[in-house]
Amino acid sequence: MKRYYIAGNWKMHKTVAESVALAKALVRDLADCKDRVMIAPAFTALAAVAEAVRGSNIVLGAQNMGPDIQGAHTGEVSPLMLRDLGVSSVILGHSERRHSYFETDELINRKVLLALDHGLELILCVGETLAEREAGRLEDVVGFQVREGLKGVSAAKMASVTIAYEPVWAIGTGKTATPEDADMVHAYIRSVVSSLFDKAIAEALVIQYGGSVKPDNAVELMAKVNIDGALVGGASLKAETFVPIAQFR
Ligand code: PGA
Repeated sequence: MKRYYIAGNWKMHKTVAESVALAKALVRDLADCKDRVMIAPAFTALAAVAEAVRGSNIVLGAQNMGPDIQGAHTGEVSPLMLRDLGVSSVILGHSERRHSYFETDELINRKVLLALDHGLELILCVGETLAEREAGRLEDVVGFQVREGLKGVSAAKMASVTIAYEPVWAIGTGKTATPEDADMVHAYIRSVVSSLFDKAIAEALVIQYGGSVKPDNAVELMAKVNIDGALVGGASLKAETFVPIAQFR
């Protein structure tokens, strides 16, 4: 049976105490969840949330990471520091990083390679803007982000890579791609990965959909053959909305 992967990206929300309270609620409510669940609190809450999820089935993720191991990089966090806290996964190339902080595909690729080199799993986010979609450039843009993001990644390391398709126009807007639209883009991403590696790797790849995933649209999105999970923003901030998404079946 297919195992889905549901991740919560808490973005720049919650104090340490609020983060721990939510993590504990999720540990309790999702103890029987058959699918994989990851939560990515703010950096400031990672250590405390690591304690809260220890021994549970919830994976601890970070929302970003610097492209270096250590040194004079003011404000950055390295994969070694994340590992040190018990983090096992990192979200890279989120559209807010690409658009608000001008992260390039080249920078994201450096982070991808570094994360994999240091034993972190990752979620590589890709997605087009509304203008790019309307200009008929969806496949160009998404294909480029996938190819550049995965440049230099070995076939063996692909087991540690998840891709999240997040159309920029659907993030935090209440607009979702239709399940059919999302499924088509996921199939395209799989074909790009197949051309980079092989069919078996492309078929095994977990591709999450992200962008206004809510309890009431999760079921129809997850029903699509190429949708293997969700990267959830707003609805991951409360147990009342995240738990039903993680338990959509
Ligand atoms: P959203 O965010 O669920 O609030 O649209 C998704 C994301 O940015 O990962």
